[in-house]
Amino acid sequence: MIDSLFESELGDRRIFKDMSILSPHYVPPELPHRDNEIRDVTRIIAPALREEKPNNLFIYGKTGTGKTCVVKYVIRKLEEFVNNPEKNIKNAVVKVVYMNCKIRNTKYQVLLKTLEDNALNDPSLSNTPLADRPDKGLKGMDPVDLYERLFRVVQSNGINLIIILDEIDQVKKELNDLLYILPRINDELSSGSVSIIGISNDMRVKRRLDPRSRSTLCEEEIIFRPYNAVQLMTILRQRIKDGFQPNTVKEGAVRRIAAFAAQDGDARYALRLLQKAGEIARNEGKDKVDIEDVGKAKDLVEKDIMAEAISTLPEHQQIVIYSIASLASRGGMYKRLSGIHDGDLFTGEVYEAYERNCRLLNTAPRTMRRFSEYLNELEMLGLITMRMSGKGQRGTTRFIRLGYPPEEIKQIVKGSLGLE
Ligand SMILES: Nc1ncnc2c1ncn2[C@@H]1O[C@H](COP(=O)(O)OP(=O)(O)O)[C@@H](O)[C@H]1O
Ligand SMILES: [Mg+2]
Repeated sequence: MIDSLFESELGDRRIFKDMSILSPHYVPPELPHRDNEIRDVTRIIAPALREEKPNNLFIYGKTGTGKTCVVKYVIRKLEEFVNNPEKNIKNAVVKVVYMNCKIRNTKYQVLLKTLEDNALNDPSLSNTPLADRPDKGLKGMDPVDLYERLFRVVQSNGINLIIILDEIDQVKKELNDLLYILPRINDELSSGSVSIIGISNDMRVKRRLDPRSRSTLCEEEIIFRPYNAVQLMTILRQRIKDGFQPNTVKEGAVRRIAAFAAQDGDARYALRLLQKAGEIARNEGKDKVDIEDVGKAKDLVEKDIMAEAISTLPEHQQIVIYSIASLASRGGMYKRLSGIHDGDLFTGEVYEAYERNCRLLNTAPRTMRRFSEYLNELEMLGLITMRMSGKGQRGTTRFIRLGYPPEEIKQIVKGSLGLE
């Protein structure tokens, strides 16, 4: 028994050399096809080294286009440069705080994280925010106090502080307020500065900003374009070289992954497929990853992505997608009457099913208007597709179609809604 365990462990190493190279948090030593973006970010933050305030920067581009890793890469280089005694950075105190706003999604939490970050609590600094509260932390303190502490540590040390707000679109409320209050510190500082880098997958976040905070954040803008298949091949090959045993991924498999991922230009998806395909090949005891493994990996990864998307939806959107799925699995009421396309549902029948399910769950159904917004959001997430009905049919109603098999969706939502 133990022998076979050892053997399977040995087998584990047949495909992968180092799985951590494939983790989404790993930042590789080189980022191919992002030279221009790296140069632009570097140019924009470099004034901090001369004790000048860098412009604020807004970065956007679709998911998996390398925004996070490019920024982390540049920050790493900046910190190496600052800490290199040979570079003789005499006076400039440059500090960087990175956070993901999926976790810090309010103004208060952003302030708190900034103050509690190691960058501002370095023992070489004076007036550090946690100095008088080493154990308690700052949670629960008045926002005015937090603001005051931020001012004090920046001012008394002359820090050029760069705050990186990744996935800034996830800040629910008070985004305008946050983008107003942080840069205002600069008006009062006579030494040091505070700059912001906002990163978003969703360009529409700009529309949520009032003109003043928009012009503050968007002093500089960089757009990240989706990768094409050739670029994705380079990125994949780099990880294969470092993360896999030599000659364990067939050329055809790499091409297939790149082709799939090029549809959205998404490097994260490409790497996920690569890892999953490797796991499938390994678990089947094969010594090479081939096209077939990639096909299987795609099904599994897509299922995972769908499950993640659904389980993080707010309750009412889950009820809507559940209603669509249960109608779709029955074929829909009107389909038989009107003979419309297989799998299409009318908005009206979905709303009725939604109302019924709300009653079952003892929650008040939202208005038709909110319901329409939910549908738009579900479409944005790729969970459904919609099209307008043809002329003469039921006015301006829309046809709804599910992007995934209804039974799978029902299974996922049932669990999280607590239905039978
Ligand atoms: N040019 C690149 N070279 C190597 N790896 C990359 C490159 N661009 C993206 N990646 C990898 O792809 C994944 C997604 O990148 P990420 O920076 O998280 O995208 P975004 O923040 O735009 O959604 C990460 O694992 C990242 O390391
Ligand atoms: Mg990112």
